[in-house]
Amino acid sequence: MKAIVRYRYGSPDVLKIEEVEKPTPLDDEVLIKVHAVSINGSDREGLIGKPLYARMGGLRKPGYPILGSDIAGRVEHAGKNITQFKLGDEVFGEIPGYHGGFAEYACASENTLAHKPAGLTFEEAAAIPQGGVLALNGIREKGQVQPGQQVLINGAGGSAGVFAVQLARLCGAEVTGVDNTGKMDFLRSLGADHVIDYTREDFTKNGKQYDLILDLIAHHSVFAYRRALKPNGKYFFVGGSVATLFQILFLGPWIKRTTGKNVRILMVSQNNKDLMSITELCEAGKIVPVIDRRYPFREAPEALRYVAEGRAKGKVVITLEEN
Ligand SMILES: NC(=O)c1ccc[n+]([C@@H]2O[C@H](COP(=O)([O-])OP(=O)(O)OC[C@H]3O[C@@H](n4cnc5c(N)ncnc54)[C@H](OP(=O)(O)O)[C@@H]3O)[C@@H](O)[C@H]2O)c1
Repeated sequence: MKAIVRYRYGSPDVLKIEEVEKPTPLDDEVLIKVHAVSINGSDREGLIGKPLYARMGGLRKPGYPILGSDIAGRVEHAGKNITQFKLGDEVFGEIPGYHGGFAEYACASENTLAHKPAGLTFEEAAAIPQGGVLALNGIREKGQVQPGQQVLINGAGGSAGVFAVQLARLCGAEVTGVDNTGKMDFLRSLGADHVIDYTREDFTKNGKQYDLILDLIAHHSVFAYRRALKPNGKYFFVGGSVATLFQILFLGPWIKRTTGKNVRILMVSQNNKDLMSITELCEAGKIVPVIDRRYPFREAPEALRYVAEGRAKGKVVITLEEN
């Protein structure tokens, strides 16, 4: 099969299309003929090998050649322990371990997949999994956002951010979206009440405080986040600098004890229950899986370049036209 591979960390220039062996599903896996795969921050990080946690598979060179986690396609083969899916079913979801999706075929386990709703295209379905599930957990499940609360989303114009902004609005919150200059109008169009351009303003230093900060790209100190939270407010680190991550791990519990402010890491496990919850909102038209651009498979390196250059507004989807 054809796949987009890379054998070292670097810019999108390290990506190339190669013939590789088709994966063989384990007994509890499904082999999927991929129709669409979307790009997430985890792909951008896995490509360049930064932050350091993106090198967990291999410190000096990537532990796996194929990036890509959010896929939609048709079941080609179901392992013998699979009960929910059969040959020909249209499915979508996340690949455990966040790799293997930029290819004509990919394997995924049953509990991170779901049946693709007939009302969504393969592209729309592929745009939902990782970002949608992160946003659902950050805003609704763990964030428990209530009407009237002040919610700030840092990195609001990216894969998870677009879901988070819409979901926070749906929960009745007053939403502030933070991202780069080119995405301000886009954030307003998603429903953000306030926008902050991170290249011009540091949201931790403007004197404002929030009930919930969902941080998709953290790089401030734990004390800066404490300052930006209201009493009893919550701060969730989803992705970002490893230095910030360790500060939160070590100092978060102390901040909670001394101030009541909850500064913590949000770990979200890939699962199809949350995937279906966010997808139902998309089917109902309450949340839109915003696709900025679609690229054919042969132009996947260009798609990653577009995302890496900070231009993508929401999701970028790679389509496998020959399907
Ligand atoms: N905790 C978990 O369980 C879990 C699970 C899966 C993934 N993740 C992590 O989740 C994170 C978010 O993923 P994503 O897919 O939403 O990422 P994404 O699509 O890359 O979006 C990040 C957004 O943040 C913007 N940004 C960059 N620097 C910024 C700054 N200094 N301040 C504010 N915004 C900034 C980016 O804009 P530019 O274009 O300007 O760069 C982009 O719009 C990733 O780090 C990923 O590894 C966590």
